Amino acid sequence: MRRICFYDTKQYDKLYFDYYKEKFGFEIDYFESKLNSNTAVMARGYEAVVAFVNDTIDAQTIDTLYDNGIRIIAMRCAGYNNIDFKAAFDKIHVVRVPDYSPYAVAEHAMALLLTLNRKIHRAYNRTKEHNFSLNGLIGFDLHGKTMGVVGTGKIGRVFVDISKGFGLNVIAYDPYPAEIADIKYVSFDELCEESDIISLHCPLTKETRYLIDKKHIERMKNGVIIINTSRGALINSEALLSAIKEEKVGGAGLDVYEEETEFFYEDKSYSIIQDDILSGLISMPNVIVTSHQAFLTKEALNNIAEITLWNLKDYFDENFLVNEICYQCVRPNANRH
Ligand code: NAI
Repeated sequence: MRRICFYDTKQYDKLYFDYYKEKFGFEIDYFESKLNSNTAVMARGYEAVVAFVNDTIDAQTIDTLYDNGIRIIAMRCAGYNNIDFKAAFDKIHVVRVPDYSPYAVAEHAMALLLTLNRKIHRAYNRTKEHNFSLNGLIGFDLHGKTMGVVGTGKIGRVFVDISKGFGLNVIAYDPYPAEIADIKYVSFDELCEESDIISLHCPLTKETRYLIDKKHIERMKNGVIIINTSRGALINSEALLSAIKEEKVGGAGLDVYEEETEFFYEDKSYSIIQDDILSGLISMPNVIVTSHQAFLTKEALNNIAEITLWNLKDYFDENFLVNEICYQCVRPNANRH
């Protein structure tokens, strides 16, 4: 049995990884701590590390893992913006789960939109208190409105199909348009100007950081609804909060937040939140924040556990690593970073 250690464990992770670990021949020790430069030393004596979206896998963390004998990090997620690949190059392999359920994330994005537009969150609270008033609960028909989708990869394309099912006119922006899909592509500026709703489905990179900023919000329609299930830093949150206060933006459904690491996945109900922007956003009646939960379906958790352990087995069996993310990788079809 190969011993692997698992950071930032939640009870639902353990359930699904325990189900698969023997099949793949692993013994897993689950740590509650997130992986960072202080906790990396806990990996001493293990043969691999399993990490997640809010771990801090910077140069210092990588050096400490390397000094403690770790040669592979298996990300149990699709995104990898929290890893310093230059630091990992030639030292530690990084594998991920590129595709576990695009439906989980796309369906959550639509759930955020439907909840916001039809004020389900407010209605739920009202009827719990036997308040059956409809004042302030007016929404709009999605049918015939324009949905702007940013990023038409696996999740974006499922979201396009769901949107079309609602009778939305879909336009999209992606620097690498999908060849086979029946999607009307426009420039990012046009998308900002023409959309009633904008949903983000692109990765966080140097180019996409603050893609939605003050300047682009100004170009948008008054009352635009913004949905973000991708990464928090795609949006300048301060600019978003100001635009919501000024009633320029009519609603925001946020499953991610640029400074989420300290808060998301944790019970902070007894703490004073020291982040005024997050508190401000949460306090708005037309903002819904979920705690990076878009992936959280049974199907996705099952696929995440199976593919993560499969990736590790491939590494130990010295097989080709189909899900490796490479920096300066020379082999064809690699996920070059
Ligand atoms: P993907 O790699 O299949 O698609 C990403 C698309 O974004 C590609 O078509 C790419 O060309 C496009 N893109 C790249 N740069 C762009 C830019 N500057 N502007 C517009 N589009 C751009 O990725 P997938 O699986 O669809 O995931 C999308 C994102 O969803 C991930 O990067 C991740 O951040 C997020 N995600 C969030 C989850 C959650 O639980 N909230 C779970 C899984 C993924």
